Amino acid sequence: MTKSSAPGKIILFGEHAVVYGRPALAVPVVQVHADVEIQDSSRAGIWIEASDVNLHAELNTLPSDHPLASVLHNFFFLLRVSPFPNLEIKIHSTIPVASGLGSGAAVTVALTRALASHLNYLITDEQINAFAYEIEKLYHGTPSGIDNTVVTYARPVYFARGQPMEIFKVGQRFTIVIGDTGLSAPTKESVGDVRKLWTADQQKWESVFDQVGRIAAQARTMIENGRWKMLGELMNKNHSLLQEMTVSSPELDQLVEAARNTGALGAKLSGGGRGGNMIALIESERAESVATSLRAAGAKNTIITQVL
Ligand code: MEV
Repeated sequence: MTKSSAPGKIILFGEHAVVYGRPALAVPVVQVHADVEIQDSSRAGIWIEASDVNLHAELNTLPSDHPLASVLHNFFFLLRVSPFPNLEIKIHSTIPVASGLGSGAAVTVALTRALASHLNYLITDEQINAFAYEIEKLYHGTPSGIDNTVVTYARPVYFARGQPMEIFKVGQRFTIVIGDTGLSAPTKESVGDVRKLWTADQQKWESVFDQVGRIAAQARTMIENGRWKMLGELMNKNHSLLQEMTVSSPELDQLVEAARNTGALGAKLSGGGRGGNMIALIESERAESVATSLRAAGAKNTIITQVL
């Protein structure tokens, strides 16, 4: 049997502007993960069991645009695997779907790694990342590639589209609370709406994206120098710019406010927005009380995680 796992992720700074070439920072969230188990089967075919989404089916019975079918078909095509082996694949993920925590990318990465290892193909992280990016493109329109990158490398990533990915150092670990609105984040739609705004007034939005890019670059320096307490203000500024891009929502704003009112040093939405998650920067001893106040303000779930 072969097992593989990939973590969830959050974007600390720079979502949306990253689609337009500005840098963004993202970190893994190890408290949630996608896990894949593969074994040879005595039954003919490739049987997939993903009980979280009530799926138990043979590959050929899935529509060809089903995300798992796409991963498998593309993987076999790319590595010229023929005939298909007989396999039992079990997928389990604790990452909420469409929440901005990178669930799709994590399943793709864990499944690709498990397949390669089970079938004895040597595949580098760089190849897994490139493969996962192709799959992201099938489902998200014009993704920047940040989700698949942070999930593949499972390290803090400074990402600028078209440039080699950089892993950044965390000078001093710090704590983040993640609050989930419980609403799905329509990332493809929000990315498309930002594109419409940009098309209508490129000069204005290029300047907004520049501001976001500067925030992400400053945040990296602060994190590397262990000055994480200064990130709060940058988070608040980044959230305002995301509101201007129309990708926040009343539910996200309410959680952001609740976090700030209970002593978070700063808070912002994280990911595509209009649903999904927000994050708050906190002194670790306040983590539980901020998480409690987020749940009181409507968060369906909270995760306390350390950036290290
Ligand atoms: C989604 O997690 C982050 C966005 O910036 C889209 C992308 O980078 O592909 C909204």
